[in-house]
Amino acid sequence: GFEHVCGPEDVGRVGLQRLTVGPAHERLRGEMEDELGAGPFHDGPDGRQVADVGHDVIKPAGELQLCEEGGLGRGRQGVTGDPGTQRQQPLGVAHAALLPHHRARARGKEQALVEELAEYSQVPVYNGLTDDWHPTQMLADFMTMVEHSGKRPSDIAFTYVGDARSNMGNSLLVTAALLGSSIRIAAPNKLWPSDEVQSMARGLAERSGAEIVLTDDMDAVLPGSDFVHTDVWVSMGESEDIWAERVELLGGYQVNHAALERTGNPNAKFMHCLPGFHNEQTTVGRAIAHRTGMRDGLEVTHDVFEGPKSVVFDQAENRLHTIKAIMVATIGE
Ligand code: NVA
Repeated sequence: GFEHVCGPEDVGRVGLQRLTVGPAHERLRGEMEDELGAGPFHDGPDGRQVADVGHDVIKPAGELQLCEEGGLGRGRQGVTGDPGTQRQQPLGVAHAALLPHHRARARGKEQALVEELAEYSQVPVYNGLTDDWHPTQMLADFMTMVEHSGKRPSDIAFTYVGDARSNMGNSLLVTAALLGSSIRIAAPNKLWPSDEVQSMARGLAERSGAEIVLTDDMDAVLPGSDFVHTDVWVSMGESEDIWAERVELLGGYQVNHAALERTGNPNAKFMHCLPGFHNEQTTVGRAIAHRTGMRDGLEVTHDVFEGPKSVVFDQAENRLHTIKAIMVATIGE
């Protein structure tokens, strides 16, 4: 048998125990066996992540297979017509491509697409990111927090600042709730996780003892945080036109030196799932910096991003080890 990983609870079930206890980093290196190939599907124009996943796959002599945006068939078929046909066509494409592989990593927009692929796939399907959830990133994030704090997840307190109604805010909230961490979300109310995601988290927190705080007052929740996370203010797949509104809403939620100081914790670290707009070396970063006058960075300042409190590159490296662990944990006998 095998298991799919489509949302944060799946990650909790298959992977967290082995990743968050003991010297996970060392144990995971080299666990991947050569014959385990993979077929990641990228339903979007997302070059950086293709490189990231390509590395997961190519390093152990796997095979990388990409689909263009809408490449699983939906883009061409639209959403009307016979439901049976709609279902069969994209999955026919997916199956033909999957059969030579042992597993698929799907990265796209709609959560429903990943779940549909998992429902019919004969190999494990991993959600590499959707608009709603980023479960594989959670393994890397919690592994990084455990490594850098020396604490168990249930003893870690962290603040997520910024756009909290997207994949990262949702996933950090629910994963923290699953593991019993103290999570503080600091965001304008309009950008909080949906009621549905909040109630999922509160249900999990009742069992785990997690502390959940949602507020629009960043200064109120930073004190005592071991980590301060943020994410881009406009996610992949969102319209460029939304930047003005987001800057207006989130301009006061930048992670800078003052925010890290405000934790009152000399060991507090900065985390970001990347990509980040902290300088003018990206097209978007440059355009928005010029438009807004935020020349030191948008969601995070350049000096924090590159500074000694930033663990973003360890966090990125842990994507590799944790993806390998997911493969090992779900492939079955
Ligand atoms: N919220 C971001 C996460 C990127 C890994 C996005 O969806 O673009």
